[in-house]
Parts: sequence; structure tokens; C-alpha cells
Amino acid sequence: SRWKSSLPQLDPVDRSDEESGGDIDWDNLGFGLTPTDYMYVMRCSREEGGFSRGELARYGNIELSPSSGVLNYGQGLFEGLKAYRRSDGAGYMLFRPEENARRMQHGAGRMCMPSPSVEQFVHAVKQTVLANRRWVPPQGKGALYIRPLLIGSGAILGLAPAPEYTFMIYAAPVGTYFKEGMAAINLLVEEEIHRAMPGGTGGVKTISNYAPVLKPQMDAKSKGFADVLYLDAVHKRYVEEASSCNLFVVKGGAVATPATTAGTILPGVTRRSIIELARDDGYQVEERLVSIDDLVGADEVFCTGTAVGVTPVSTITYQGTRHEFRTGEDTLSRKLYTTLTSIQMGLAEDKKGWTVAI
Ligand code: COI
Repeated sequence: SRWKSSLPQLDPVDRSDEESGGDIDWDNLGFGLTPTDYMYVMRCSREEGGFSRGELARYGNIELSPSSGVLNYGQGLFEGLKAYRRSDGAGYMLFRPEENARRMQHGAGRMCMPSPSVEQFVHAVKQTVLANRRWVPPQGKGALYIRPLLIGSGAILGLAPAPEYTFMIYAAPVGTYFKEGMAAINLLVEEEIHRAMPGGTGGVKTISNYAPVLKPQMDAKSKGFADVLYLDAVHKRYVEEASSCNLFVVKGGAVATPATTAGTILPGVTRRSIIELARDDGYQVEERLVSIDDLVGADEVFCTGTAVGVTPVSTITYQGTRHEFRTGEDTLSRKLYTTLTSIQMGLAEDKKGWTVAI
């Protein structure tokens, strides 16, 4: 087919068995894009209604109509998950990939797109990791970040769902997300620009949630902040999330995180996992409205996400005043970070059945 002929062909020499990823400096991985060897591609038309078969292709540029739904109207979703190398040389570990698959299915409904089944999604992720296994960092140095995309790739002029869809996965080795590395970050509360509103798409991982937050993010970065925190668009009083991650506040033995029920907050897989781990550890965790007063009065604040992991927050600036929080060894965020990453890397027993071995 026309689609197929535009795909980069598989390299006849499979180099994926090589031990290391070329000249890469594993000790200084940030969140930059290191291109890897293969990507996974699966296409379907609107009439077909669903995806049937995908394949691995050499990683490279794709051909897209100038009038594709994704380029013109932003009909697209993305996901993010990580594969870790096991220390015993016994393969790789994925963390709750079915959750990403289900979130993509939910988002696809909102964005009028067909989506891969959970089985297709997880199979495609595994294929992508195996084909790029030489790029999975040594244990303790980072992870292979996996980026699934679902886009309206077919051509359309009037505003309507695209006639064809592409599900794609690429991967890149990553270390820490923020330039601060493992250190605590400074956040700025954004008061004018909002990330989401009730009835909008804040609760789904559509690509169109992300470009609008670039401006406040760039402004904040130029002032030395790692990211901005968004307030709810109605009352401008309740904290929602940062541009790239969810938020938790700790006060005494109580933990709170903004509830996702209004549809304005991205339901993070790390967020949900941290809620469960904190409860297992005896903490009371509430999913509720978190006001700006709750935030500035907290003992401890931290962010969660696939890319950011569990990142401590040292200060938050709101209306020109800087509020400081507890950081370091003796914090809940450090404890939860250790518990979570131990499970993800296969260092601790996975009593919850969260990990998937490849
Ligand atoms: C992730 O944490 O995987 C995300 O998708 C956030 C993105 C802004 C890097």
C-alpha cells in the first residue's frame, strides 16, 4: 500500500544484540533525544475501525500528508513509559504498561480515534524494547523511555476525524528529567495561564495539552524555576499539576494530591502507584481539592510522573513570596522514590504484579 511503501525498511543486519549503545555517556543522560535503531508502526483506516497488524521499522522520519488530522487539528495522543535493565542480566522490566494502554484507549474515545487493544499496545512496547535493547541504560544509570503516539495521519480538510490513523512507538535512553538531576526543584505558581478547564481535555494525554504550556514554562525557566504549577481555571485557588507531572503535598502524617474527578488533571500511572505505596506504608492519602493554602502550608511537596519519577520540591513561589519545604534523606518522597524504583528495577519483590518482564 501507499502507506507501507513510505515506511523505512528494516535493516537486514540486526545490530540490536550489541552490548552497548555506541559512544553514549551513560553517566550523563538527561532527557535529551538519543535516536535509537527501531520504531514500531501500525496503521488503520476509519472504515476498518481498529488496528490489525504492526511492524518494526528502522527509526527515521515518516511521511505525512500536509492535510493530516494531526497536523491541522491536533488529533493525537501520546504516552510515556520506561523499560529498566535488570541487574542480573535477566532481561528488562516494564512498569504497568497496561495502564498506559488503557489510558490511550480512554483518550482515543475523547479524540474520536480508534486505538490499539491492551494486548496490541503491550506487545508493540515489548517489540520496541527488544529491538532497541542495546539502548537500555545499565541499571542505576537511567531507563529506556518509550513514547507511544496515536495520530490522525489521514488527510482531511473540513473539521472531522481523520480517515486514517497511525500508532507508533519510538524509544530513547534517558536519565533524570530536570536539569537539577536528583536535586529538589523550585516551582512557580502560574496565575494567569491555565492548563485545563472543566469539560476540556486536561485529563487525557492529548498532544494539544502540551504546546500551550510552553510559554509559561519558558518564562519560568528564564527566572530559574524548573517548571510552573497550574491553578484551576474557575476559582484560581486550587492547585492542579505542573506542565509535566502531578503534585503531592505532605502535612504531618497526611498526604494529599489533587483529585482527577473534574477531568482537568492527568491521571498519572506514577501518581496512582505512589498513592498505593504511601497507603501501604500507613499514610492517609486523600485525593481531593488541594488549595493554595494547603500547598504553601505543607511540610513537604513532591512531583510524580514517568519522566520525572518522584522529584522533591524545595520551594514554591506564589504571588512573589517564596515558600520552603523539607527535602533530603528523611522525607516521604525519598522513601517512596526508593520503594518505587526498587520495584521498577526488579530490586525489590513486586507484590502487586505491577512489573512485566521482557
Ligand atoms: C511522562 O512523564 O512520561 C510524560 O509524558 C511527560 C512529558 C511532558 C515528558
